[in-house]
Amino acid sequence: MLLITFFNLLTFVSSARILGLIPTPSFSHQSAFWPIWKQLSLKGHNVTLVTTDPINDPRLTNLTEISIREAYKLWRPMYKDMTSLHDHTKVTQIMAPVLESVQELFIKSKEVRALMNNETTFDLVMVEALFPQLLIFGELFQCPTVILMSLGGSDRIHRGLGNSIHPIVHPDIMLPFFRDLGFKERLTSVLSFLHLRFKAFLQGRTKRTDFLKKYFGKNAPDVSQLIDKVSMTFFNSHPALDGARAVGPNTINFGGMVHIREPQPLPKDLEEFLNTSKEGVVYFSLGSNVKSADLGQDKFEAIAQALGELPYKVLWKYESDDIPQKPKNIKFVKWTPQQDVLRHPNVKAFVTQVGLQSLEEAIYYHVPIVMLPFYGDQEQNAKKAEYKKIGKAIYHMQNGLTKDELKSAIIEVIEDPSYRQNMKSLADIMLDEPMSGVEKVVWWSEYVIRHKGARHLRNPVLDIPLYQYLMLDIIAFFILIIAVFSVLVLKVLKILKHLVSGYIKFKSE
Ligand SMILES: *[C@@H]1O[C@H](CO)[C@@H](O)[C@H](O)[C@H]1NC(C)=O
Ligand SMILES: *[C@@H]1O[C@H](CO)[C@@H](O)[C@H](O)[C@H]1NC(C)=O
Ligand SMILES: *[C@@H]1O[C@H](CO)[C@@H](O)[C@H](O)[C@H]1NC(C)=O
Ligand SMILES: *[C@@H]1O[C@H](CO)[C@@H](O)[C@H](O)[C@H]1NC(C)=O
Repeated sequence: MLLITFFNLLTFVSSARILGLIPTPSFSHQSAFWPIWKQLSLKGHNVTLVTTDPINDPRLTNLTEISIREAYKLWRPMYKDMTSLHDHTKVTQIMAPVLESVQELFIKSKEVRALMNNETTFDLVMVEALFPQLLIFGELFQCPTVILMSLGGSDRIHRGLGNSIHPIVHPDIMLPFFRDLGFKERLTSVLSFLHLRFKAFLQGRTKRTDFLKKYFGKNAPDVSQLIDKVSMTFFNSHPALDGARAVGPNTINFGGMVHIREPQPLPKDLEEFLNTSKEGVVYFSLGSNVKSADLGQDKFEAIAQALGELPYKVLWKYESDDIPQKPKNIKFVKWTPQQDVLRHPNVKAFVTQVGLQSLEEAIYYHVPIVMLPFYGDQEQNAKKAEYKKIGKAIYHMQNGLTKDELKSAIIEVIEDPSYRQNMKSLADIMLDEPMSGVEKVVWWSEYVIRHKGARHLRNPVLDIPLYQYLMLDIIAFFILIIAVFSVLVLKVLKILKHLVSGYIKFKSE
C-alpha cells in the first residue's frame, strides 16, 4: 500500500507542466536560472519558458522556449544612465519605467497571448521577482506559484514572506553597506527603509495592479493579493556570503554558484596567451552590462595606465574596436569564456564590477578580486567581499579613480597570499551543502506541485494584524489594569490617611 502511494507520487511528479516567466533582459538575470530549466526538463517535466535569452539547446526536448529578446532594446539605453550615476538611490527610479515597458512588450507578445488564450494547463508557475504582477498566470491556470530571484532578496520580498527585516542588521541589497555600519550609514539605511516602505504603500503596487486590471479585467486581483498566495520563494543567495538571516521554511536559498558550468577548452589564441604568460595574468572585465567603452575618458586612461605599468600580462574584455590606448602587456578581446579564463592557473587576479555571478566565479576558482562596483547590488557585493577579505574595492562612483590606487590594489591582492586563501575557505564553505542549489530548487518545486501549494509553511506573522503583532491591545490592557489598580491603591491610601489622622486627632483630644 505504502509502495503504491509512493509510486503514485513519483509518477505524478515525473511529468508536471511548468511555466517559467523571466522577462528581465539581462544576461545575468537569465543565466542564473538556466541550470534550473535544464534540470527540470531533464527530469521529464514539460517546461515552457518565456525568456529574453533562450538556451536554444535542441537536446532539451522537454523545454519549449518563447523568446522576448526584443526587450533588450528597451533595457540597453538605461545602462548608460546608470554608468554615470552618482546617487545609488536613483537606480529604482531609472528602472521603473523600463520595467513597465518590458511588461507591455511581454504581454503583447503573440506567443504569450497564445498561452493565455489556449486551453493549456500548468501545474506550477515560476515568476521572476521583479515582475510579481505576472503571478496572475497562477490564477489563470489555477495552479500554485513560486517566485525566483537571481540575487538575494530585497527588503520588500523578505517583508512579504514574514522573514526577519531590519535596516541595520540587514541593509537592503541596493544600499552599499554590509556590517559595522557607522552612524551616518545607519541613518541612511533607516531613512531608506522608511522611504521604501512608505512608497510601496502609496504607489508601487498600484501601477502593477493597473496593469492587471488593464489586461486581465476589472475583477483581476491586486498584486498584493497575488504575492500573498505565493507558495515558495527561491533566492540566489548563500548565507556564508550574504550573511545569515532568520527566514521561514518557504524561503529557499539556492545560491552558491549554481551557474558554474562544466569546464570547456579555451579558444586556441587565449589558451596560448595564458599559457605563455608565466609572470601571471590580470583579467579585466566589467561584465555583460557595463561596457568598458562607457567608462569615460578619465577613468579609461587611469585604468589603462595602471594596467600598463603592471609587471604582469593583462587580458581586458573590451567590447569595441575603438581602443584609445594599447599598452604592450595588454591583450584586448571582445568576449571571453570567463569561467574558463578564471580557471587557468596563470590568472592571478580579476578586476571586476562585482556582479554576483562574476563574484561567485572568482570565489569558485579562488581568484582574488579588485572591485570597481557600478550600481544595483554591486556596491554591497563589494562590501561583502571586503568583509570576507577576498579582495579590495575602489568606490569610484563616489570617489573617482586614480592610476596608483588601482595599481597598488592589484599588486596587493596578488602578493598577499591571504586573499587567495580566504577565497578558498569561502568556496569550501559555500560548496559544502546537503544538495546542490539546482537540486534544492527542483526538489522544492516538485514539493509545491505534489501538495498543490505550501500554505502550511507560511509564516503566521502575515496573518495577524500589526497591532496584534506588536501586542498593542495587550499592552493597553496591562496599562489599564495598572492604572485602575493605582487609582484603587491611591483611594485606599487616602481613606487610610483619613482614618489614621482621625485616630491621631481622637487620641490627642
Ligand atoms: C523528456 O521527458 C520524458 C518524460 O516525460 C523523459 O522520459 C525524457 O527523458 C525527457 N527527455 C529529455 C531529453 O529531457
Ligand atoms: C509540452 O507542452 C507543449 C505546450 O503545450 C506541447 O506543445 C508539447 O507537446 C509538450 N511536450 C511534451 C514532450 O509533452
Ligand atoms: C494552442 O497551443 C497549441 C500547441 O500546444 C497550438 O498548436 C495552438 O495553435 C494553440 N492555440 C491557440 C488558440 O493559440
Ligand atoms: C597550455 O597548457 C596546457 C597545460 O600545460 C596544455 O595542456 C595545453 O596544450 C597548452 N595549450 C597551448 C595552446 O599551448
